[in-house]
Amino acid sequence: MTISKIGEGIANGKIILLGEHSVVYHQPSIAIPFPAVQIKTTVASQTGKTKIDCDFYHGLIEEMPELLESLKETIRVCLERLEQTKTPLHLTIESSIPAERGMGSSAAVAVATTRALFDYFDTPLSQKELLEIVDISEKIAHGNPSGLDALMTSSSIPYYYIKGEPFQPINLHLNAWLIVADTGITGQTKEAVTSVAKKLNGPDQDQYKIKIDELGVLALQGKIALEKNQPLLLGKQMTMVHQLLQQLDVSNQTLDLLVQIALQNEALGAKLTGGGRGGCMIALAKDEKTAQKISHALKEAGAKKTWLYEMRDPDEE
Ligand code: MEV
Repeated sequence: MTISKIGEGIANGKIILLGEHSVVYHQPSIAIPFPAVQIKTTVASQTGKTKIDCDFYHGLIEEMPELLESLKETIRVCLERLEQTKTPLHLTIESSIPAERGMGSSAAVAVATTRALFDYFDTPLSQKELLEIVDISEKIAHGNPSGLDALMTSSSIPYYYIKGEPFQPINLHLNAWLIVADTGITGQTKEAVTSVAKKLNGPDQDQYKIKIDELGVLALQGKIALEKNQPLLLGKQMTMVHQLLQQLDVSNQTLDLLVQIALQNEALGAKLTGGGRGGCMIALAKDEKTAQKISHALKEAGAKKTWLYEMRDPDEE
């Protein structure tokens, strides 16, 4: 086997347009890759023991803190599958995806690292195997992952996704702009996912099951809005999703404030994105000028960072 001196793997951020949390319960969801933020893992040869350099830790892999357990497990599983558990390596992870902000950083680091390790050992990696490995790591990070983050951080096109079913590419025909705003507050995906699970097993479970079903219907309808260039409808659906997520107790005051500010500044709709209780929110705008105005208002209201994303109809020049 030829071993390349450097292995490289890249993964992008992701934005969930519709369906976070309900996707865990096999309801439809829609997400887009968000390449404005990325993670790159590089693997090189090393003498002695395997070591890692990333934003949160520099040192031996065997001494990695518990916080990075899911990454450690990704590396362990990959090396086991590659039959290279005894080969010392030097892994370097560079990331522009803010951690725990609903942009899929935990899945992205697993995707980039898996790709880099397979690349280093010159071994082909199918999308199926990649998703299997990332799922193991995401189970540690999130408890009960839907698989959506793993799919989206490893993809370059938007998908309609139902857990356990084949994922469907979306034929995006929408002329609108998306504004992504970071609250600067660390999200709590694991806690939020656990809290929704408790509600669905608690005394008011029927009431919460209805909300999960409603989120699924909105994602199903959102697919049509995206494919038929109906930004007004998509905006309304996004705001309705935010209200349902509030009722599931996965929003927080800052997210609610930023959603309200976006709506007061001509957003067609706005919602939290990802696990919630911090992290990022998104807003939809009819054109670039309005998107700039919303972005400015969100920053004035305390958003730490914003990104603009043109969701242009690919058929239009
Ligand atoms: C987290 O980005 C999205 C959730 O729906 C969890 C999951 O899909 O695994 C909250």
